[in-house]
Amino acid sequence: SPFLFHSPPSPPFRDEVPRLPVLDGTDLSVAARSTQHRFHRDYDLSPALGYGDRSYLGPVIEARSGVQTSVRLRNRMGEHPFAADVDLSLHGVPEDFGSQPPTTLHLHGGVTRPRFDGHPEDFIVPGEALRNRYGNGQEAGSLWYHDHTLGTTRLNVYAGLAAPYLIRDEFDTGGEDNPLGLPAGEFEWPLVLQEKVFADGGRQSVRSVRLVPQGSWEGGAVGDRGLINGVVWPQLKVARGLYRFRICNAASLSVWNLHFSDRRRFWVIGNDLGLLDAPAPTREVRMGPAERIDILVDFSDLRAGESVELRNDEPVPLPAAAVGAKPMPLFGRFVATSERGHTGPVPTRLRGGSGRPAVLSPVARPERSRDLTLIQDLDRRFPPTMMLLNNLHYDDEDIERPVQGTVEEWNLINTTPDPHTIHLHLVHFRVIERQRFSVWRYKLANHRPPVGTRWTPSADRFAWGSPSAPKQWESGPKDTVHVDPHTITRILVRWPDRAELGFDPDQTFVPAGAEARMATTMPMSTAEDGRLGGYMWHCHMLDHEDHDMMARFRLVTG
Ligand code: C2O
Ligand code: CU
Repeated sequence: SPFLFHSPPSPPFRDEVPRLPVLDGTDLSVAARSTQHRFHRDYDLSPALGYGDRSYLGPVIEARSGVQTSVRLRNRMGEHPFAADVDLSLHGVPEDFGSQPPTTLHLHGGVTRPRFDGHPEDFIVPGEALRNRYGNGQEAGSLWYHDHTLGTTRLNVYAGLAAPYLIRDEFDTGGEDNPLGLPAGEFEWPLVLQEKVFADGGRQSVRSVRLVPQGSWEGGAVGDRGLINGVVWPQLKVARGLYRFRICNAASLSVWNLHFSDRRRFWVIGNDLGLLDAPAPTREVRMGPAERIDILVDFSDLRAGESVELRNDEPVPLPAAAVGAKPMPLFGRFVATSERGHTGPVPTRLRGGSGRPAVLSPVARPERSRDLTLIQDLDRRFPPTMMLLNNLHYDDEDIERPVQGTVEEWNLINTTPDPHTIHLHLVHFRVIERQRFSVWRYKLANHRPPVGTRWTPSADRFAWGSPSAPKQWESGPKDTVHVDPHTITRILVRWPDRAELGFDPDQTFVPAGAEARMATTMPMSTAEDGRLGGYMWHCHMLDHEDHDMMARFRLVTG
């Protein structure tokens, strides 16, 4: 097979799911460190990265809506675990990456000022520190924080630099006293799901494809082992009752169709950035990288010792299936103890009735609709291809400039045979619908302009079939959406304005890395408007984001 799976034997359910420690308070400090981590009881220690005192991932930061959290990040990394895997030809990667790995800190889902948003070029090198201030001026939600360094995010995040960040508010307090009666304390678990490849002995490997030489961008780190909170195929002992799982897909590339082995029903209560109107019962949930799902699962029917597995059966995308890729099937299992757990019922309403406006309150009409084209073009090298947004590079001056206080429909036009997950910084949006379209007719109409030129004729007139509305479980506030192959995904984005944000979202600043680069000979654009400030929107498949399916937007005033 063209894949490099030679993972060591990994008997499942040998380890327990670790509970990530909680960091709360308003003045926090975490270090990004080089570590040694054991991913499975039978594995050797593996080089990894972690935040704080974690050997992999990091503590769960808990914040309070409306109360600022200040996070100081120190870069205490040494030799990078993937020093040999870095591709120096990708945008912005410094030559000494392996020995002096840079990092940035991004709060994914955060309503954050540009200068604290973890700009990919605002990195610090070992020995340096930065401080980001998060206003948390948003409702309760399942955010996460991770590295966002230009051209090497995939290596840093895969190595371990990612962890949950939960915002609590008066409706969703996270305490036993919460007005909705949701499981809390020992019955609420943040679960970070990933898949990974291991080399002999249990050393994590970021390489999954044999075709691509080491040190070259691969285009897609997949795995054959599932991880929960940094452990391969673990188990979690559960009392017989209701649990709340705050699940984050922190994989580099893979979309999953999550379900339990007995296909039991569960309830989705929240999406990326907050609760749904009401719990959505389902037996499966599809999620792409960076999407989060907040679910309730009832284990009260299990007898002591009985277990159910958390599994995936999402078919791999066609191009990968053609070369023999298989879905990674398993994350771990839940084993019932004889104890009685949280016995409260699943609430009937989560918003509206509980005093907070419904998320589905009539949607404002979009003032403008924008076409955003997801493109895969042949790179100079073979076999990898580069992925682009709007047929433009990250550096391009031609960026989206939505107007503060307006509502826009974004048509995410996926011309590629692969899925992607599109993430917008700063805002939350709603998924409106998905519709198939004729890619070849769209390409014909656009005459495939060279890289650097947008495709202009719209894809709408090549759409076919009726649009499909999102499932009820995808009807909440989102910041990331999975975009299927050859499909237009329509989302509705409300751009906040300066008054409601309490800060200027169009503030400019010079990212530290850009400043350094301007002083050297790195071949990057230094045009003022192009380099400064701005927010990112990008594919959250980490390999794609690095090369270079990432673009900036500015939120302008009128
Ligand atoms: Cu989760 Cu731009 O990032
Ligand atoms: Cu992508």
